[in-house]
Amino acid sequence: MYYELFLTFFILVIKSISEQICSSRSHINVVEGEPFYLKYCSTSLSQKNKTHPTRWFKNNGLYGWVELNTSSSPRITLHDDILEFWPVELDDQGSYIFQVGHDTREWTLNVIKRNKHSCFNEEHVLNKRIEVHKSLQITCDNTLYAKQINRTSLYKNCEKISQSNKNPSIQKNAEFRDEGNYSCVFFLYHNGKLYNITKTFIITVVPEHSKVIPAVLGPEFSYVEVQLGKDVELICSALLNEDDTFYWNFHDDNVLHPNVHEEQSMRTWISEGKRHASKTLRIEKVTENNLNFLYNCTVTNPEATDTRSFILIRKGMTDIPGHMFTGGIVMAVVLSVAVVCSVILCIIYKVDVALFYRRLVKRDETLTDGKTYDAFVSYLRVCHPEHGEEYTFAVETLPKVLEKHFGYKLCIFERDVVPGGAVVEEIHSLIQKSRRLIIILSETFMSNEARFELESGLHEALVERKIKVILIEFMPVRNFTLLPQSLKLLKSHRVLKWKAQESLPYNSRFWKNLLYLMPAKATKPSGIELEVMPILPTP
Ligand SMILES: *[C@@H]1O[C@H](CO)[C@@H](O)[C@H](O)[C@H]1NC(C)=O
Ligand SMILES: *[C@@H]1O[C@H](CO)[C@@H](O)[C@H](O)[C@H]1NC(C)=O
Ligand SMILES: *[C@@H]1O[C@H](CO)[C@@H](O)[C@H](O)[C@H]1NC(C)=O
Ligand SMILES: *[C@@H]1O[C@H](CO)[C@@H](O)[C@H](O)[C@H]1NC(C)=O
Ligand SMILES: *[C@@H]1O[C@H](CO)[C@@H](O)[C@H](O)[C@H]1NC(C)=O
Ligand SMILES: *[C@@H]1O[C@H](CO)[C@@H](O)[C@H](O)[C@H]1NC(C)=O
Repeated sequence: MYYELFLTFFILVIKSISEQICSSRSHINVVEGEPFYLKYCSTSLSQKNKTHPTRWFKNNGLYGWVELNTSSSPRITLHDDILEFWPVELDDQGSYIFQVGHDTREWTLNVIKRNKHSCFNEEHVLNKRIEVHKSLQITCDNTLYAKQINRTSLYKNCEKISQSNKNPSIQKNAEFRDEGNYSCVFFLYHNGKLYNITKTFIITVVPEHSKVIPAVLGPEFSYVEVQLGKDVELICSALLNEDDTFYWNFHDDNVLHPNVHEEQSMRTWISEGKRHASKTLRIEKVTENNLNFLYNCTVTNPEATDTRSFILIRKGMTDIPGHMFTGGIVMAVVLSVAVVCSVILCIIYKVDVALFYRRLVKRDETLTDGKTYDAFVSYLRVCHPEHGEEYTFAVETLPKVLEKHFGYKLCIFERDVVPGGAVVEEIHSLIQKSRRLIIILSETFMSNEARFELESGLHEALVERKIKVILIEFMPVRNFTLLPQSLKLLKSHRVLKWKAQESLPYNSRFWKNLLYLMPAKATKPSGIELEVMPILPTP
């Protein structure tokens, strides 16, 4: 709203050699009591042919369109393609049509009430934001009445600061105290009567570097498929500063767009600390005229301008062309499959991803917890012969891989503590010094009463959550009901199944899963052995 009238000052393009500038915008704001005129932007063709009669109409609401003549109002004068208001009043609000031959042009005039308590109307201002120390320039010029203006005064916060016959201006480096409302008041005589026009700048001085280069978002040309007779909305978004001007341009001398309406207000929002805005252009019942025309969306400030164009093209016979539809479906399916696959892969390879990440960031959880061992290994040891497969696994295979290859420090009771004698207190203190408790589970373990030694340690581990437990199912366990109560609390991913030959290589899933459950440790032992070395002696 605020920008509209000023756009008439700035965006007006001199299109003819005629002295007065024509009114190219179709929505114009003007303040009550100021002189104003509407001028048809004639094409060179109709310019030459003066034989066409010209007519002016005003929409008087209830009475519809009424032709204007010199006696319609004492304030109105008609000169062919110019309609002058001396001055414009609230009554003049409404739509105007100029007709020459078959050519017509329509404008909508919005008359703003004069503010009795201020020298300007706050609905009719131009906001300028200037960074401190940057050049502040205010020039009082009026392009519409340049020739007729007799003198001009410049006011700051409604106090006169300068007056001259020419254009008073300010040119300096901005300081914070320069903030304020600057009004240029142009005086002109018409038929011996004095009139004035006010143009106001609200100057805000902001800290340095707070300005962005305005940019319209999206591609330079957007093609929009439409069906004739249907309504369409074009939405243009931009990155901009608070005082930048943001508008649609759809005016053209040769093509009339009476069914095109620019939304008066814009939506604004802040994203990533930057100001954004969007403005809609509504096209009702699209006609042939609207096709293949550049509807331009522009954001501008004194330093930069950016424009994007929207072009309406006719939609194909079907709503969506077949190939596009199939293509779209295929794309959608491929995309969803890809997403699902990545998720599944991430779940399947969660362990690999986690291990890779550990290596990447050299994560180490073992440095600061004051514990001695990375894991306490427990297996059945009392009642059965000591040289079974379990023994080999616990005392040879496990340390060979975890200690020699991956650099962990294990506490294996049989190996590291007292051969034979099991002291419950000692087991507890060792478990407390360990980061993990690895229990090698098998049918023999299950049925043996010696397991109760572990019960209290397990209780501590699981209930008080001081240590994490890893179960290795060395032999398939048929009867889980024999498991100590506390072990049943374990989550299934903490149970690893040993699959003999298949689990042997260092890079097998078994070891990966075990590493994943072990604490992250950055140090690696020297002398890494071959990656795929069998460890167990073949039975
Ligand atoms: C401008 O004209 C209006 C009447 O249209 C008048 O009320 C106002 O005082 C004038 N302003 C100045 C600065 O003379
Ligand atoms: C001007 O318009 C009249 C009526 O439409 C036409 O007869 C005449 O040829 C036109 N003249 C020029 C120079 O275009
Ligand atoms: C001029 O217009 C007024 C209404 O606006 C109408 O009453 C009057 O008759 C018109 N005069 C002429 C000469 O057409
Ligand atoms: C302004 O108008 C006054 C009164 O009509 C006239 O005396 C004066 O010369 C004019 N000045 C200019 C610069 O047009
Ligand atoms: C400038 O104008 C705005 C809007 O009318 C008002 O809010 C503000 O107080 C004015 N500033 C000064 C310094 O008068
Ligand atoms: C839109 O912009 C293009 C250049 O980007 C220009 O050629 C065209 O005249 C503009 N159209 C309108 C209606 O301003």
